[in-house]
Amino acid sequence: MSSPANDREKVVSKLPGWLRQSLKVRAAQYGVEIQVAVEQGITDWCRLASTAATIDTSGADSFSTFLPSGQWEEFRQIATDRRVSLIQGLAQSVQLWLDANPAPEVERPEITRRIIVCNQKGGVGKTAITAGLGEALAEDSEALHPVRVAKALTKALRDSETQSGDMPPLDDPLDIENLPGPGLKVLLVDFDPQCHLTNQLGATPLPMNGDSLTNHMAGDPKGDLRDLIVSIDEDNFGGRLHLLPACNDAFLLDVRLSAVRAREAALERALAPLEADYDVIIVDCPPSLGLSMDAAAYYGRRRDGEKPGQSGALIVVQAEDSSADAYELLTTQIDDLRGDLKVDIDYLGIVVNLYDSRRGYIATSSLQGWVDIKDPRVVGLIGDLKEQKEAVRVKKPLLSYAPKSQQAVGMRALAKEVL
Ligand SMILES: Nc1ncnc2c1ncn2[C@@H]1O[C@H](COP(=O)(O)OP(=O)(O)OP(=O)(O)O)[C@@H](O)[C@H]1O
Ligand SMILES: [Mg+2]
Repeated sequence: MSSPANDREKVVSKLPGWLRQSLKVRAAQYGVEIQVAVEQGITDWCRLASTAATIDTSGADSFSTFLPSGQWEEFRQIATDRRVSLIQGLAQSVQLWLDANPAPEVERPEITRRIIVCNQKGGVGKTAITAGLGEALAEDSEALHPVRVAKALTKALRDSETQSGDMPPLDDPLDIENLPGPGLKVLLVDFDPQCHLTNQLGATPLPMNGDSLTNHMAGDPKGDLRDLIVSIDEDNFGGRLHLLPACNDAFLLDVRLSAVRAREAALERALAPLEADYDVIIVDCPPSLGLSMDAAAYYGRRRDGEKPGQSGALIVVQAEDSSADAYELLTTQIDDLRGDLKVDIDYLGIVVNLYDSRRGYIATSSLQGWVDIKDPRVVGLIGDLKEQKEAVRVKKPLLSYAPKSQQAVGMRALAKEVL
């Protein structure tokens, strides 16, 4: 909430709930304070040459803000002259500001962004991060959602430096900001024969004898890949979050790929026809290094005309020593691919998942180790908390199941970093 500046005075009036909500969202979309928006609206209203349309103010309840001293008095005078109640005048002023500042268009990338979520180490949270990131990117741009602000990460690191294991970081309410969602069209690709992402989101794995991504990659499609896609229908995603489910046949992918021409491009050939429908495609990789991982990394390479850091590999790790060896192996494979195929594959960052500073020195010092890598940098820090497991249990997207949880606010922070 806005704080009083020295030259502002507190004003208490009334505003209908729907108008207050629109004002809150729009001010956040433009990054302006509510008091500034109201001030501008009132200034414009006072200068109006003709009467503004009457607004339904029924059910208006208390609304207070801070205005430059003298503005409210002037407004009151003009309202009296115009024979308009203060509540009506204020509602018209707010509406005037909303009309002058229409909802910004969602910014869509020219080239569909491809994010490859990977690490051959099992159980680090690739699937959880794929889902959470996709959900955060698809959230409604016409509503506000709690996001952890960047300084929380810095604070966690400071805690880790002082090795104070006694206070769990990442949960200070002061570190939370309410922001509009990115509103992007997102396709999640379950690229893991274990079908975890598919199951987690409450979808059904594709049957073995039907069509699948594997068939399309192996050059043996049985139909349109689009027909396999399902929508994750929760209100906050507004039909923008889709999933391409996996099929157990992906266990045979590496074998089938070995007979395919230019096999590193197999995932790209399969997914390219879908790209026009999406702003972002996120690929949840299996815990393995092989031909399918090559195909995924190649799909995330930087394309001609694409800016660095738009597409690439997002590496999920844990704050523990064994993660470091796995990281070396993965980055070696990606670096080899870069050299062999002469392509640019960007690292979008490292996500440290399942973090719990109360585990003490091993956790805090390994987190510091990840941060010290610097390139790629740590773009996300997600705590080890119950909501993720509960969401999996009830097969619901985390951001619908527990939209205000620490994990959800962390996923939104990750989405902000990646965007
Ligand atoms: N931040 C978290 N807090 C609590 N539990 C988590 C968190 N992240 C993941 N988990 C849980 O840990 C388990 C492994 O996570 P997940 O399946 O996402 O890992 P993965 O790297 O995709 O595994 P695999 O290598 O098998 O594909 C799951 O039960 C998941 O719900
Ligand atoms: Mg997984």
